[in-house]
Amino acid sequence: MGHRPSKISKLSKLSSKLKKKPSMNNSSSRDNNTSNSLSGFENFNEPIFKFENGRRYINNDSIQYLLPNDDDEIDRLQMQHYLLRYIWQSNFSAPVKEILRCGAKVLDVGCGPATWTLEMASDYPRSHFIGIDIAPIFPSEIKPINTEFQIQNVTHRLPFDDNSFDYIHMRLMLAVLKEEEWKSVVLPELFRILKPGGYIESHEFDFRIVNQGPCMKILVEGFIQFCKTKNMNPIVCPLIPGYLQENGFVDIDTLKNSGHYGSSAGRFGKLALEDFILVFDALKTPISSILEINNEEYQNLLDKLQEEVDTNDTFYEVYKFIGKKFIPEN
Ligand SMILES: C[S@@+](CC[C@H](N)C(=O)[O-])C[C@H]1O[C@@H](n2cnc3c(N)ncnc32)[C@H](O)[C@@H]1O
Repeated sequence: MGHRPSKISKLSKLSSKLKKKPSMNNSSSRDNNTSNSLSGFENFNEPIFKFENGRRYINNDSIQYLLPNDDDEIDRLQMQHYLLRYIWQSNFSAPVKEILRCGAKVLDVGCGPATWTLEMASDYPRSHFIGIDIAPIFPSEIKPINTEFQIQNVTHRLPFDDNSFDYIHMRLMLAVLKEEEWKSVVLPELFRILKPGGYIESHEFDFRIVNQGPCMKILVEGFIQFCKTKNMNPIVCPLIPGYLQENGFVDIDTLKNSGHYGSSAGRFGKLALEDFILVFDALKTPISSILEINNEEYQNLLDKLQEEVDTNDTFYEVYKFIGKKFIPEN
């Protein structure tokens, strides 16, 4: 497999300017290694990764995740992390600052390249952070002492004791979980492993993008249709508070924030649009097939977005849902 030129070198430069701290060297987990040498994959006879249309994916047909996990995607996730941290002016919103300072046990579900986990571990050295992901794109060797990473499928029972985490963080899982899994598989399992009095924080993008122009509308509709074929619902934000409540979480809080796409929002608007374009570029094959258009027509839609978002004043909303595990009275 030849090395694909990075489409986002320009972006990487921009996002690296936004980084608060130098990133960890996690190159050992980021190469295109398809051998079985990474922890957790020793028993598999199959390669860890597969390649389709020039992008790298996890090589497991039972994993329904829609996006790739190659270097370009890792760069996109890191850039998106800085964008989200800027929007919220913080890495978290649950009332856990004090317990993090004193020493908490924290789980980051679907941690990806672990940008959030590593920053939090550096900010709260007395706390212990465990990141889990189906793809070994987190640091495997060089990592802070208060972090640990495991390959785990969040739709399976997790190898953690009941009532063992003080705080669970889960971000951007709308293209990971089926609608049914949110409420009947994942949230019940996270409830089980959260300590009474502990907090969960779920952070999602809302695909009801406001003031969409015609090209964005077509792309978003294609994405929604594609998700439907996988029993996923990308407009899951309005449903999450109910799922939390049904699973026994209390003191549920919904926080909303927003950002503009395009030039009106300066470099962050530019980053947000690049993020959107990179996601839809990664999904070009399935979405163009759903829309019944060819690659050139699809590319034209992407190319028109820049002008369109500026004309329409398009903006997006992001949500955080915070819930607490009830403390039983004795
Ligand atoms: C959109 S990324 C979000 C990554 C990270 N939370 C962030 O905000 O940067 C979704 C992550 O979920 C992971 N994932 C997909 N299916 C999974 C599964 N069944 N169990 C655990 N992680 C999964 C992907 O590998 C990917 O890293």
